[in-house]
Amino acid sequence: MKSVKKNRTVIFIVYVISSFLLIIASYSKSGHYQLSRFVKPEICSGCHEGIYNQWRYSMHSLALVDPVYKKVASYFLKGLTVKDEILEAESCPKCHTPIGYMTGLPVKTSEEKQKLPDIAVKGIQCDFCHSATGAERNYNNSIAVEPGFGEDNPGTKRGPFKDSDSEYHDSAYSKFHTESKICGTCHNVRHVVYGTKLESTYDEWLKGPYNSDDPKKRITCQGCHMYQRLGYPATGSTERPKNPGSASDFSKKREHIFTHYFVGGNGFVPSLFNDKIRLKMAEERLKNAAELSIDASGIKDYKLVINIKNSGAGHYLPTGLTNVRQMWLEISITDHKRRVVYRSGRTDKNGYITEGTIIYNTVFGDGKGKPVVNISKAREILSDKRIPPMKTVSETIKLPSGRYRYINVNIKLLYRSVPQRSLDSLMGRGKVKFPVITMEELNKKVIWN
Ligand code: HEC
Ligand code: HEC
Ligand code: HEC
Ligand code: HEC
Ligand code: HEC
Repeated sequence: MKSVKKNRTVIFIVYVISSFLLIIASYSKSGHYQLSRFVKPEICSGCHEGIYNQWRYSMHSLALVDPVYKKVASYFLKGLTVKDEILEAESCPKCHTPIGYMTGLPVKTSEEKQKLPDIAVKGIQCDFCHSATGAERNYNNSIAVEPGFGEDNPGTKRGPFKDSDSEYHDSAYSKFHTESKICGTCHNVRHVVYGTKLESTYDEWLKGPYNSDDPKKRITCQGCHMYQRLGYPATGSTERPKNPGSASDFSKKREHIFTHYFVGGNGFVPSLFNDKIRLKMAEERLKNAAELSIDASGIKDYKLVINIKNSGAGHYLPTGLTNVRQMWLEISITDHKRRVVYRSGRTDKNGYITEGTIIYNTVFGDGKGKPVVNISKAREILSDKRIPPMKTVSETIKLPSGRYRYINVNIKLLYRSVPQRSLDSLMGRGKVKFPVITMEELNKKVIWN
């Protein structure tokens, strides 16, 4: 008996020491994780093919190969001399390729030009999100991970199920995965030195009506974005029906399987990679995000009020990279003789938005009131004209005085992910054209009497 006990103790000690050594060996010299600990998405696809196919051409999957991202990232780096600005311009991989960053290549934006390991190129992927255990901070990606030890020993995959069972990997329920915070720590971007809030999608949601104290009424990021599929935009103004199905070919049917399309306003970048459905899905989302109305009670004083309500987005409209995104009003008002009375928001022959347009966006400044395009130099927010969730903003149009019997009002709320002017300077004139999407349109006749 005694020797069995002794043997067990020895085995136990050997086990503890070897596990410890294995863990030590799994970190590379620089304190990063070893690349071999992560499993590439194609392996997950073996059983989770449906989810893989949804994710494959998402902005998450394309985060490092997205041509707009690549051009912008190298443009930001050019000609910088101030240390703090360089630190910001070098900070991109942490979110755009989190596994690359954690495993040591690329840690800096300038290293993205090197030959990168296959897995690092695959952006925000399965084994990053599903090895996540929590996040310390609400910004700049502070996700902690506990990956396994590679393909043969993939470790624990964390997710929404309490009774999940896979022969390949261990499974665990994770509250973190059911909360907005797992998205929010990346969807809140701050300048690494100046602290300027460059993107605040999570904060906007946190302070907004969708973050209800009543868990039954709360709608998380996942509650809209991971319910969407073709034909079901799943916004705040549409139904968000459950998506029954199975998580893999080998598992039981469940009430709801979270979709992994991750569609926002940008279907165009995925379409450059031959994605067939995201243009339509982004359009369905955008067309169910806002409502337009007019108030003509002041028309005798030649005043017309336009109301725009953010009825469908869980955050400001627009959100994210709002110094780049364009959401604007195209207004055309004609009188009973079809003469143009008022016009704004048109694009010129280059596709550039004309002077005087009402546009919803953010402008960053250099700390002395001068606007900057390169966010590495952003020390302040000069202006932020956007629409909070479920809120309405109003614009008053002053018409020229005259004798009108009636006027015809045509208003469009338009959206474009990237301005044509920026595309022309980054990619070459007219080379790439993002589509302009009509989110809402209103036609009304206003009678003078
Ligand atoms: C950006 C992070 C992220 C990425 C990338 C991601 N997932 Fe998920 N996944 C989630 C979250 C979050 C949930 C649960 C949502 C909830 O409970 O609200 C989930 C749910 C799941 C589930 C449970 C079934 C379901 O869909 O509801 C499986 C299985 C899964 N993911 C597999 C994958 C695979 C395979 C990939 C890669 C092809 C992948 N995930 C990529 C975040 C991610
Ligand atoms: C050999 C098949 C197989 C492979 C390969 C596989 N899974 Fe799974 N996985 C399953 C099965 C089966 C389930 C159980 C589904 C259920 O319970 O509905 C599951 C469940 C999950 C869950 C849900 C866990 C929970 O408790 O909510 C996640 C997340 C997940 N897998 C992620 C991954 C990721 C990431 C990979 C790649 C690293 C992967 N899986 C590879 C078969 C597999
Ligand atoms: C590791 C950081 C990270 C995490 C975690 C993350 N995202 Fe993202 N997300 C990004 C980046 C980076 C992009 C833009 C990629 C690009 O440049 O193409 C993006 C893009 C998106 C888009 C597409 C935006 C558009 O313009 O169309 C949506 C929608 C989105 N994420 C939703 C989510 C949701 C929902 C979650 C949580 C389940 C989440 N993200 C978690 C970093 C992250
Ligand atoms: C009530 C539904 C709803 C919720 C909740 C929600 N979103 Fe959205 N989201 C939308 C709609 C609608 C759009 C399209 C309009 C737009 O682009 O802003 C969108 C767009 C986006 C975009 C693309 C923005 C752009 O124009 O480039 C990102 C990124 C995004 N959401 C991330 C998130 C994250 C992260 C959360 C949680 C913190 C979240 N969303 C919560 C409905 C929602
Ligand atoms: C803290 C996480 C984080 C960091 C760091 C980060 N990004 Fe992003 N990036 C995001 C998220 C989230 C989105 C999606 C927002 C949206 O769709 O509006 C995004 C989207 C983008 C896009 C839009 C892509 C497109 O096709 O529309 C560009 C360009 C971009 N980032 C450039 C950069 C550059 C350059 C850096 C480094 C200077 C950087 N990002 C650092 C999180 C991050």
